[in-house]
Amino acid sequence: MKQPTSISRRHFLGSIGKVAGSSVMLKAAAAIGLTMTVSGCGASNASELPPVTPPPTDPVTPTPTDPPTPPPAVNPDPRPSDWPQGSGNNRTVTILGSGIAGMTAAFEMNKLGYQCTILEATARAGGRCRTIRAGDTIEETDSVQSCQFDNDPTLYFNPGPSRIPHHHDLLLGYCRQFAIELETFTNENRAALYHSTNAFNGQPQLARRVIADSRGYISELLSTAVNQNALDQALTTQERTDIIEMLKSYGALSPNSSYTGSNRAGFEGQENTGGTGRNTPIAPLDLTEILNSDFWQYQTSFAETINQQPTLLQPVGGMDKIAKAFEQQVADNITYQAVVTQILKTDSGVRIVYQDQTGSDVVVESDYCICTIPATVLKNIDADFSPAHQNEIDNFNYANPCKIAFQSRRFWEQEHNIYGGISWTNQNITQIWYPNSGFGRDQGVIVGAYTFGSNAGDSFAILSPQQRLNTGITQANQLHPQYGNEVTNGISICWPKVPFQLGGWGTSAANNLLNADGNIYFAGEHLSNLKGWQEGAILSAYHAVNGIVERDTML
Ligand code: ALA
Repeated sequence: MKQPTSISRRHFLGSIGKVAGSSVMLKAAAAIGLTMTVSGCGASNASELPPVTPPPTDPVTPTPTDPPTPPPAVNPDPRPSDWPQGSGNNRTVTILGSGIAGMTAAFEMNKLGYQCTILEATARAGGRCRTIRAGDTIEETDSVQSCQFDNDPTLYFNPGPSRIPHHHDLLLGYCRQFAIELETFTNENRAALYHSTNAFNGQPQLARRVIADSRGYISELLSTAVNQNALDQALTTQERTDIIEMLKSYGALSPNSSYTGSNRAGFEGQENTGGTGRNTPIAPLDLTEILNSDFWQYQTSFAETINQQPTLLQPVGGMDKIAKAFEQQVADNITYQAVVTQILKTDSGVRIVYQDQTGSDVVVESDYCICTIPATVLKNIDADFSPAHQNEIDNFNYANPCKIAFQSRRFWEQEHNIYGGISWTNQNITQIWYPNSGFGRDQGVIVGAYTFGSNAGDSFAILSPQQRLNTGITQANQLHPQYGNEVTNGISICWPKVPFQLGGWGTSAANNLLNADGNIYFAGEHLSNLKGWQEGAILSAYHAVNGIVERDTML
């Protein structure tokens, strides 16, 4: 075990109280992952922070830290219970796409008395909400993979949405309504790993050590500054006492406010002694190495963001339980393998042309259209959208995530006490997800890559499926040396190459597409405040339906 260097701590602690003052100290505090706002203590100011390497984009929020508080919602869309019964009056609606947005719209509009037709390009409802099991295929623009997992209901892979925040209450409401059984999904597991090729000689570190030691160091540091009156703002005696006590608790400091390690970080030899080595607290990690790593830039605060905080949930048996439950409700509305080729406005509504499974053109005329087709696909469909709508569609950006999954003996449970959760690396695979169910079974499905940021997804998208697996194994071996010998039956998905999706989730700001173009309304997660979430798809559907209902009830 490498002992902490005194240089880095002297640099941090010695200089702080004597010369630096609060702004430097708070920059350092931010660097280790603790930013505070304490009345009279001086708030950290993100704009003062030194620039850091841009992290992968949080899949949910545009920054690695909490996003600024959004402005209060102005006139949020009414919910289904607010829509007048019978407002549909048999008017017709063609809904393009049977993802969560499209099926939500149909489900709710059927109840209002609209006649809904859903045109679905593939042979399956659900869009990105799907689950891969033995024998299923993943088709991309230039490859087809067949899932080789053993035929076992617990061996599945959610290639798209995989977790549901506890406050996504519209989606959770439908789960309740459709009796979809849920279980917890774990984002943060202290037994999982943080790995950086830039620190600790490339050796992965247990999350519990990284988190406990970061908190310990930063608390000691801040205590020193407070004790030496080194903050810019004056503190009352009581405030100083309270902050010191708070830091002792936050960082597991000793009575004299120093950090010498903590049993929060575990015990010496615990990983190797079958759980019997619980006597000697493990020495703290080297602060310089923590600072050299990427951990504090976004990884340790990932599960703090509002959509990634505990508790998260998942349907028992796979995310497609949600898609299938919706599909059951609107099955009569769906025309499968209907590839839309033209979207045109008419004097009284909308004309859609699609190619059916025999290759014949079919024309559907309706009063309204709700188009949930991703902008990446929509921009290549012949349409007479207004220039403003077309321009926004043409320029809508999407994240390009990739996921890889393998079947494996649950070595992470049996040898590392990892039950669910996520390990992180600064390599392109970005994350390894351990299954959140089936604990104690022999076999499980491990997600060996989830590349949601920067160019990591693109780096996989250009590889063949086999090359992706090889790369995924090489990188994951850095965290789990036994990985390559254990995992089997790999399969991957790169969303920018999935037909009729061509992207993971929208990242551009929606503007014109929030308004109807004639009788064409737009929906889909990309047009919501919760991009990349099924809850966002539902919200966008409500927005579109509400626009139509308002129009019809004002006629
Ligand atoms: N909502 C998606 C996630 O959590 C993007 O990864």
